[in-house]
Amino acid sequence: MTILITGVAGFIGSNLADALTGQDDIRIIGIDNFDNFYPRDTKEANLSGLLPKANFNFIEGDIRDTTVVDSILENNKIDIVIHLAAKAGVRPSMENPLNYISSNVEGTTNLLESMRRHGVYKMVFASSSSVYGENEKIPFSESDAIDRIISIYAATKLSGEKITKVYHDVYGFSIVNLRFFTVYGERQRPDLAIHKFFKSILKDEPITVYGDGSTSRDYTYVKDIVSGIIASKNYVLQHDHCYEVMNLGNNDPVKLMDLIRHIEAVTGRQARLEHKPIPTGDVPRTYADITKAQQLLGYSPTTHIAEGLKAFYQWYEKTQLSKIK
Ligand SMILES: NC(=O)c1ccc[n+]([C@@H]2O[C@H](COP(=O)([O-])OP(=O)(O)OC[C@H]3O[C@@H](n4cnc5c(N)ncnc54)[C@H](O)[C@@H]3O)[C@@H](O)[C@H]2O)c1
Repeated sequence: MTILITGVAGFIGSNLADALTGQDDIRIIGIDNFDNFYPRDTKEANLSGLLPKANFNFIEGDIRDTTVVDSILENNKIDIVIHLAAKAGVRPSMENPLNYISSNVEGTTNLLESMRRHGVYKMVFASSSSVYGENEKIPFSESDAIDRIISIYAATKLSGEKITKVYHDVYGFSIVNLRFFTVYGERQRPDLAIHKFFKSILKDEPITVYGDGSTSRDYTYVKDIVSGIIASKNYVLQHDHCYEVMNLGNNDPVKLMDLIRHIEAVTGRQARLEHKPIPTGDVPRTYADITKAQQLLGYSPTTHIAEGLKAFYQWYEKTQLSKIK
């Protein structure tokens, strides 16, 4: 079976490709444009273990480039696309909304159009918990009304869910949209809180706490997310004409101040804190109801935050520590 992974050089994409290339009878084609949201060398390092593998092919290219996408789909018999490529990050999307709309909305549509032209009708799409916005009902469920969005990034992800629905309704595509909840672990993006907090504490610099520390996130360990993506891939392959939206979270939110206490425990250091107002676009809490993914996919996240942070720290010490000293 041949799987196209978009955004393969990124945090989640490279962890997913590591897992899938270890499986028999799977060939992975990965595309990434090394978007400048964070450094290219970090993404090249993410790919370094994959490039030597015989069942992995990498194409540097942009999902908005019709020629590149068409040529991949024309020259390979792709069974399913796992679409992770996107400009990620809530706060920067408020500064550069057009870039986000270009990669996330136009890019997704370009990919779907090319898939339609080449008769590839199966996709798993990375959506985001940010579509729940300021939803007050907890935990967040797929059946909740999505009418409290407060960032352009979230709007692009909801657009992806709606556009894939059109391809399902009109052309019969099989689609699973996954709403990921704050993913962390080895190779986590450098803009995300856990990565930044480890860097600050290890450099003895203050950690920026937005608000009073009572905001909370349903942090989900990357290997649990990867299991959920693989189960979704299998679900789409087994169910023709399906369309589902599913939360992939941990169902165990952690308050910001508790997260910092966990990081102190893992590093054996005491954090210095600097309080700042909550930035535009940041939501007060995320909390996933994962019943649907449990029922349809057998999804069952097993990693407690303390354990996942230890794994992140081990990776960080091995690969990042020398860069920040
Ligand atoms: N990390 C999280 O907590 C989280 C939460 C919710 C949703 N998501 C979604 O999951 C997906 C993966 O996120 P991540 O954290 O691994 O981010 P990432 O930035 O590490 O990975 C995304 C990859 O997509 C590539 N990319 C961006 N625009 C592209 C384009 N036009 N053409 C080709 N490649 C392009 C980037 O270079 C990058 O390597 C994204 O769609 C993101 O929106 C992530």
